[in-house]
Amino acid sequence: MKKNAEVVSGTMGREVERAKIAVEKASEGKRVVMVSSGDPGVYGMAGIVLEVAAMEKTNVPVEIVPGVTAATAAASKLGAPLVSDFAVISLSDLLTPWEKIERRLEAAASADFAIILYNPQSQGRIEPLAKAYEIMLKHIKPDTPVGIVRQAGREGEGVTITTLKEMLNAEIDMVTTIIVGNSATKVVNGKMVTARGYDLKE
Ligand SMILES: C[S@@+](CC[C@H](N)C(=O)[O-])C[C@H]1O[C@@H](n2cnc3c(N)ncnc32)[C@H](O)[C@@H]1O
Repeated sequence: MKKNAEVVSGTMGREVERAKIAVEKASEGKRVVMVSSGDPGVYGMAGIVLEVAAMEKTNVPVEIVPGVTAATAAASKLGAPLVSDFAVISLSDLLTPWEKIERRLEAAASADFAIILYNPQSQGRIEPLAKAYEIMLKHIKPDTPVGIVRQAGREGEGVTITTLKEMLNAEIDMVTTIIVGNSATKVVNGKMVTARGYDLKE
């Protein structure tokens, strides 16, 4: 970052305000970088910036720089759980009605997708994960491997491999990503691996 760069910080819940400031400053001719963790297009700021720029009818060019999203960062710490089809679901009902999240969980769990859960729980919000757990247990075997990764790639990183039945005993917070395996997921040499169907003896 340039030494004389102007830094505008934002807080959770004020994302639109931050995007508006960024677009406004870009319209004034400044070079603006919107920082968003992981991949900006995965539950990140990319969408809001594009929407605000369109709303403001500005012609500022917007470039989206891809990053490593928590799903693949967590998968790499666990082994290779995502080599087959998977579904990514956020348990935050701030912007998505809970009924819709439930429908998506039911659909993914009943269709044997590996499931990645973002925004699993915070101190004051533990109910969604408990409900998601019950929905998944209706369709997925209790001994299915589950990987829980906190602070992937950051200081304080924690990696746990457990089972669906036991997953709620792990430490889970808002910087945690959970990966629930599918019916072909196993634990080999301490790593979570989803078999893709190759014949290893050929
Ligand atoms: C609003 S989403 C932002 C996702 C981000 N744009 C990305 O691509 O990773 C926030 C959620 O991402 C997950 N997450 C973000 N960073 C993480 C990390 N370092 N380790 C584990 N999970 C992380 C957590 O589930 C967290 O609740």
